[in-house]
Parts: sequence; C-alpha cells; structure tokens
Amino acid sequence: MESGFPAAVFTLLGELPKETWCGSDLYNLEGFWYASSLLPAIMAARSNFRANDCDVFLTSSMKTGTTWLKAIIPTIMNPVGRTNDDGHDPLLKHHPNELMPSLEAQLFKENPNPDLSDMSCPRLFRTHVPYHMLPETVKNSACKIVYITRDPKDTFVSLWHFFNSLITAEGNDPWPMNEAFESFCRGVHVFGPFHDHVLGYWKESIKRPEKILFLRYEDMKKDPKEQLRKLACFLGKPLEKEEEVDRVLWRCSLERLKHLEVNQRGVDPWLGFDYKFYFRRGSVGDWKNNITDEMKEKLNRVTATKFEASGLGF
Ligand code: A3P
Repeated sequence: MESGFPAAVFTLLGELPKETWCGSDLYNLEGFWYASSLLPAIMAARSNFRANDCDVFLTSSMKTGTTWLKAIIPTIMNPVGRTNDDGHDPLLKHHPNELMPSLEAQLFKENPNPDLSDMSCPRLFRTHVPYHMLPETVKNSACKIVYITRDPKDTFVSLWHFFNSLITAEGNDPWPMNEAFESFCRGVHVFGPFHDHVLGYWKESIKRPEKILFLRYEDMKKDPKEQLRKLACFLGKPLEKEEEVDRVLWRCSLERLKHLEVNQRGVDPWLGFDYKFYFRRGSVGDWKNNITDEMKEKLNRVTATKFEASGLGF
C-alpha cells in the first residue's frame, strides 16, 4: 500500500469490526464488509472522486453478471462497437475489466488522488460499493448509474466457485461450501450483505429511474435484445438496427469472450486474478447443481425476509 493514504485510514481499520472470510480479513464499515486491501481506496474514492455529467457507472455486488456489462457498456458507447469492424474491437485484446476501470480495485488502489485528466468523455467506471458509499458527486451529478443483480442463490454459487478457484489455483485447500454459505446468509462476504446492497440501489432506482437503471441477470439471459435496447436508450445511445443489437450481443457473449486468448491466458494486473475465472457457465439456476434443498430454503427465507415489502423478488 502506498504511503499517500492518510494514516487515519489505517488507524480506523484497527477499530472496525473484523471477520475472516475465505482466508482474508474483511472489515465492516457502516454496515458493509470490505477487503482490507481495498478499503483505503474505497474511502479515498468516496472523498476525492469528482464525477462528470458524461460519466457512466456500472455498479453491482460481486458475481451478478458485471463482466457481461463491462463488455456491453463500452461496446455501446464506443462507435467502433457499432460498426462491423471486428478487427478494431477492443475486446479482442482487452479483458472487460480494462475497458471499465474500477474505482477501488484500479484507479484509487495505490493512489488516493489519481490524475484522471487524460480520460475523455464519456468516462466509464465501475464499482462494487453499496449505494451509500458512492462519491457524493456520483449521486448528485447527471452521470448515469447502471446496476445489475442476480438471484442470490446463483450469486452465492458463482461467488463460491470464483474464490474457490482462486485459492485452489494458488495451492490452498478448497473453501468449504458450507462455511461460505453460512457467511453469505449472514451477509459476511466482500461488499456484503448482498441483500442490503441490492436494496440500496433498488430504492434509489425507483426514486430516480432516469439516473439509475436496475437490471437483472435473469432478464438479460431471457430477453437479451430487449434488455440491451433498454440499456442503450438509458445511456443515450439507442440501437436502432437489428444488426447492431445482434453484433453487440455476439461481441459480448460469454461463448466468444471466454475463448479469446486474452481472457484464457491473461491475469488482472491490479488484483492478480486469472481472467479465465471471470467466465464460467453463465446459466440461470445453476444453484440447483450446487446447493442442497436445505440451503435453498434457508437462503430463500433470508431473501424473503430482507426483500419483504420492497417489491423485489427472485
Ligand atoms: P457463473 O459463475 O454462474 O457462470 P461477475 O461478472 O459479476 O463477476 O459475474 C460472474 C458471472 O457472470 C459468472 O456466472 C460468469 O460465468 C458470468 N458471465 C461472465 N461473462 C459473461 C457474459 N459475457 N455473458 C453472460 N454471463 C457472463
């Protein structure tokens, strides 16, 4: 960690509630759990980031389909994405993480005051922080926020597979699924509690639908064309021709991205994660292959209790 972060941040870390999760320390700040390696960056971004009206923010809890949108949003916003010029498609050489930089995992990770002046409009960013942790100017400027969420059971299974793959690839023992599940149900996981994360953005999206577009992975899978058109209109870049819609969906498809060399062999330079772990099955209802009926019922009960009266359901 760079010394540019105020010492008070590290003092604060020592005072926060702490839990061990998948072999790492998580700290609870204002009701949410954060990795110790990202918390200073999250706090710096909250204080120091200044949004422009042209910015687009992709927000999500982890493993809800963010990578799909990290590919789709730049493709919609970038004129190259709309042409049939496949040779210049940035996705050929870049994992989607590189096209929508993360506030906490990239831009502010090692510098509490990064110089973003060479980024041109429209600037595209992503973050996993809950709504209340967004920098004030993100909430109050005219920039757009896209939020994606997913059935909690599939989110949990995807989260377990992802972190289990990371730690076993490093030669560690597998992460016991029961342990991961109990933590998820208690809301203890990176950027958790999942349900509170969803509720924060959901409530804001109802108040300000022109500001926050709330998407679900299941809807994207069921009717990708309709969801893509809705997203493009929200971003002020409507896709008028059927062939444009088809091209964006093909370019950003799991089948295509997962087989590109950059995604098979590349490693995220900021987090050290193999890019291949971001692409797995991408199916709705994969929880049925992974968790027991008892686990399903338990997580369904947590979801019903948390989302009661919100109008949200899965
Ligand atoms: P599974 O683990 O269920 O397969 P995130 O991108 O937020 O980390 O979410 C990861 C999930 O999105 C994984 O789900 C992954 O397979 C899926 N995914 C990644 N890229 C995708 C794409 N282009 N289209 C559809 N799903 C995708």
